[in-house]
Amino acid sequence: MDLNNFLMYDETIFQDMTVFNSDYLPENFKLRQPQMEEMALSLRPALMKGKPINNLILGPPATGKTTAIKKLFEMAEEDCYDDIFCVYVNCQLHSTKFDIFSQIHKKVLGHVPPETGVPFARVYNNIMNELYDTEKALIVALDDINHLFQGNVISEIFYDILRAHESFDGVRTGIFAVLSDIDFRYILDQNVGSIFNANEVNFNPYNYEETFKILQERARLGFFPNVISDSLIESITDYTMDHGDLRLGIDLLRISGNNAEFNASRVITDDDVEKAFESARGASLKYILETLNDNEQKLILFISRINQKDITSGELFKAFNRENKISYATYNRLINKLEFLRLIDTTYTGSGNKGNSRYISLRFDAKEIKDNIPKKRRTLRGKE
Ligand SMILES: Nc1ncnc2c1ncn2[C@@H]1O[C@H](COP(=O)(O)OP(=O)(O)OP(=O)(O)O)[C@@H](O)[C@H]1O
Ligand SMILES: [Mg+2]
Repeated sequence: MDLNNFLMYDETIFQDMTVFNSDYLPENFKLRQPQMEEMALSLRPALMKGKPINNLILGPPATGKTTAIKKLFEMAEEDCYDDIFCVYVNCQLHSTKFDIFSQIHKKVLGHVPPETGVPFARVYNNIMNELYDTEKALIVALDDINHLFQGNVISEIFYDILRAHESFDGVRTGIFAVLSDIDFRYILDQNVGSIFNANEVNFNPYNYEETFKILQERARLGFFPNVISDSLIESITDYTMDHGDLRLGIDLLRISGNNAEFNASRVITDDDVEKAFESARGASLKYILETLNDNEQKLILFISRINQKDITSGELFKAFNRENKISYATYNRLINKLEFLRLIDTTYTGSGNKGNSRYISLRFDAKEIKDNIPKKRRTLRGKE
């Protein structure tokens, strides 16, 4: 299609493109009904002039934690407006105490306080006085609380919210805290300890059938009928289960659709999905390479530059060490990290001592690594 036709083209395979957006709230959320019910139960006491029950919401990425809270809060706001304020805070975006209480202030008093010139105590008192006057309970969802782990900010925030009743008689407050990395659990316990007695709600990873069902439903809402076949949705489900989480699957549906539209096709073909996999693979490789530290980037670039099959770990160390002086122990750590990230494969040769006798092979094309490594590193030696 030439550019003119492309811009004028008014046929689309997308029935509703917004269902692929990251902030879309799915209507059908049955798979998380038990968790929604458990969380709703925790709000119930607040509707009867009691104290809401704190929740700790746990589960790996893209298992519906944020969606569940947002849907529950939407319902609670509609049905229980007179009894409760529900405040959702994304801690990645709002990670200071003032910022978080500004978000609470916005919900409770209808506007954010000015960013400068207002002491924290005034913001805090305004909120608590309003809760006292209206006799409404406050529930604050703190999403991705690992962003509050630096310094002691998390314990102050929890303390200020949960102990409000000590200074403001009868004020009722609770926290829904969300954590997607279970390894951080002990940091939370260490920091907030006994202030935060919480009911635990677990969001388990979706299995194959569940992932397929969710993607099929999203495709049904997003595309016109018969645009994508179930077998292509199965391929996308396979790829999603192997390489990432549900978010990737939803993205792959959208990208496949875009590829089909680009070819002015009325259906999504194998080729469109294959291309979507390729671009997802590129994007995730780029992301992984960007997160590597200096030495890790040097080593993966070195491996891709020599691009030699069947090189043993010992030989690679010698060659790498000529240009980059590091200890064998450090080198071994780097190799293990690259393997863990699935950038390289290592297989035992069956001979020699254990450390040296692994073959190292790249899991990607050397060119893919060179194309996706951050530019600074690529040009460091000036000859790649
Ligand atoms: N049961 C489900 N039904 C339909 N869509 C779902 C379901 N669970 C998750 N999703 C979709 O998956 C994506 C990720 O969900 P969500 O953001 O709620 O996950 P999360 O658990 O908060 O992830 P993270 O830990 O990364 O923040 C969203 O697009 C959401 O619509
Ligand atoms: Mg989330």
